[in-house]
Amino acid sequence: MMKQYKNNEFRMKDVGKTVTLHGWIHKKRNLGGLLFLDLRDRGGVIQALVRPEQGCYRIAETLKNEYVVALTGVITERESKNPNMETGDIELEVTNIEVLNIANDLPFEISDTTTALEDTRLKYRYLDIRRNTIKEKLIIRHKIMAATREFLDGEDFVEVETPVLCKSTPEGARDYLVPSRVNNGKFYALPQSPQLFKQLLMVGGMERYFQIAKCFRDEDLRADRQPEFTQIDLEMSFVDENDVMDLAERLIAHMFKKVKGIDIELPLLKMEYDEAIEKYGSDKPDLRFDMEIEDLTSIFKNTEFAVFKSVIEEGGIINAIVAKNAADKYSRKNIDTLTEFVKTYGATGLAYLKFVDNELSGSIIKVLSTEELVDVKQKLKLENNDLVFIVANKKSIVKTSLGALRVKLGKELELINPDDYKLLWVVNFPVFEYSEEENRYMACHHPFTAPHDSDVDRLMTNPRVCKAKAYDIVINGYEAGGGSIRIHNAEIQKKMFEALGFTLESAKEKFGFFIDAFQYGTPPHGGLAFGLDRLTMLLSKTENIRDVIAFPKTASASDLMSEAPNVVEEKQLKELGIKIEK
Ligand code: AMO
Repeated sequence: MMKQYKNNEFRMKDVGKTVTLHGWIHKKRNLGGLLFLDLRDRGGVIQALVRPEQGCYRIAETLKNEYVVALTGVITERESKNPNMETGDIELEVTNIEVLNIANDLPFEISDTTTALEDTRLKYRYLDIRRNTIKEKLIIRHKIMAATREFLDGEDFVEVETPVLCKSTPEGARDYLVPSRVNNGKFYALPQSPQLFKQLLMVGGMERYFQIAKCFRDEDLRADRQPEFTQIDLEMSFVDENDVMDLAERLIAHMFKKVKGIDIELPLLKMEYDEAIEKYGSDKPDLRFDMEIEDLTSIFKNTEFAVFKSVIEEGGIINAIVAKNAADKYSRKNIDTLTEFVKTYGATGLAYLKFVDNELSGSIIKVLSTEELVDVKQKLKLENNDLVFIVANKKSIVKTSLGALRVKLGKELELINPDDYKLLWVVNFPVFEYSEEENRYMACHHPFTAPHDSDVDRLMTNPRVCKAKAYDIVINGYEAGGGSIRIHNAEIQKKMFEALGFTLESAKEKFGFFIDAFQYGTPPHGGLAFGLDRLTMLLSKTENIRDVIAFPKTASASDLMSEAPNVVEEKQLKELGIKIEK
């Protein structure tokens, strides 16, 4: 009884063959007594025809959508062909029907254009997976994994699994904790990534490691973040940052070619972190369109306009972006909406200028001098119907808000060709970022990332300027992966912990096993991890990470189908020594 065929594989050359096809009834139509059944399997749909004179016609009449059947018959040429269907030239003339299972009425129709709410689709995810839109993405995900394994095996990498029940370590996101029954009061943490283990595999002499690894982070969820996600994680010994980037970009090029037939030109562009922030207001710039951020601060150094004046006095900056030929597309009301948008990034306001018929107009036209306006016009090379947005504030707010506005305008003005892929490396990240919340410097990447050799001596004295041997791969504005060369020298690691405000004792308590291991001959090493979910989103053209995960979680980290997380029995809690505070 094993299924032998894919229903979408039949063409004119198969006419005359007798076959048994399996699948689900996708649709049923009665045209003047002839019963047409669309039979669907994972591969696709074939039309089946049951004539009234056939003995099985009575069974055919009882079939409903999503019944599971085996249809036996002969492949014949269709009378009226359907050019929109892969199998549109032929059909199956059915002589026998076996009903393998019946189906109740469905909560929503299995259709690519379903209007069912996402919550309903997630509750019945197994039905959602029957739809092409989800099924195809899962197949792309599989192909990415297959291409990855093929490429890395060819490059002498060894796939090694690392533990899921780990020790909780600081830095990064919040851990998911698992209480221990055998050791009451103690907890495992689920890994945020296999970072420590993969470095220990380098100490262990594995030289080239990879793993398609599940990672867990208890952080605020977004459209491109899940609490449980997958990394293509790799690590290499005896390499520098260019070696890792070279290997990683060849892997990406192999994947794009294998999965989608897309040619990626190598080597990829490498952009300094500082330049990315300066020009695009983001460490993951979307290079599918221009609209670079321009600095206007020097034009306003003697300005009379109080807002700009005080920003400059306080060490802030004044930057602009130009939406080319868009002045007529944005009314006052539209611009108010954009103002509210930039406010969510901390901007206090959004000034704008329109340049139409050789004349400037806009919110700040009356408060700027003629000279300033001429300078702005020249600096931004304004042309007819250009629209300028200006933000004045401290640098981080100006860059982030204009960077976000740039992306929003790029989408709204349809400046992005949907078939385009723009890949680049962002390199030389800062070693530290200052946390206003914690009032201290934190590792920008993680505490094991190597600083540039020339920065080692100023980790303590001038942390702000130190740059790391760290790199991110950015695709169409998404951070698709990131990594670094690691510190393999115990002295430098000690300095790094100090700079991060750990004493050696507290570092030993948290990372003791890791620090110990480094005493016994650690090779220089580095690596990176790609977000498999994000790569699948990019290659399957969706902006919703839930679309590329078979059984995803909602924004509140729950699974609507299985209803996880859920309460557990009192007995289980007792065994774990846990009391729930009401
Ligand atoms: P990082 O934290 O940058 O690096 O993660 C690597 C990549 O994983 C993806 N990613 C996520 N995808 C979906 N949901 C999430 N919550 C999520 N968080 C991260 C991103 C990201 O680029 N151990 C280091 C790598 C290394 O240094 O080798 C690490 O985990 O695409």
